[in-house]
Amino acid sequence: MRTFRFARGVCRILLHLGVHRRDILDDSLLGTLSPVQARLFLSMQRADQVHGLATAKKCQKLAAQHGLASERRRLLLQTALLHDVGKSVENVGILARVVHGLPMEERWKAILLSFSRRQGKQLLVLAAHAQLGADLLREAGSDAAVVAMVADHHGPASQDILLQILQTCDEQS
Ligand SMILES: [Fe+2]
Ligand SMILES: [Fe+2]
Repeated sequence: MRTFRFARGVCRILLHLGVHRRDILDDSLLGTLSPVQARLFLSMQRADQVHGLATAKKCQKLAAQHGLASERRRLLLQTALLHDVGKSVENVGILARVVHGLPMEERWKAILLSFSRRQGKQLLVLAAHAQLGADLLREAGSDAAVVAMVADHHGPASQDILLQILQTCDEQS
């Protein structure tokens, strides 16, 4: 299962490289972001922007199926678009992303990238991106629910329906 996830993650990175930047910026879903959040979205790498948009599109469908009220839907879409914004703290390269996705313990990943301090730092950012993203969104004045969902998006399965939808869509995108 972990090997399958890793292979899917690598395919995802390669697919995202083929998406044109204009197609990302023209997407109407970006209108759900505040101006400060939109700046954060623009600071993300293209692969993370494409992944955020794909996650938000899936969340939009599930939100409609669950009949979520418009305010809760807006918070969910903001979270989906920006859930991986913590990765923007460093210019994370493909090598660190691939190693981060390997189905092995964190200490072995760190050993793999120990030849380069820069790669090691990128790996640390990837490991901590949920909390780093939550901190960025708090500083940007985001709703507390958005901050909490970003912090917990790789946490255990939740009772909160918004976080459940986010985790499901993140997994599939
Ligand atoms: Fe994430
Ligand atoms: Fe994600």
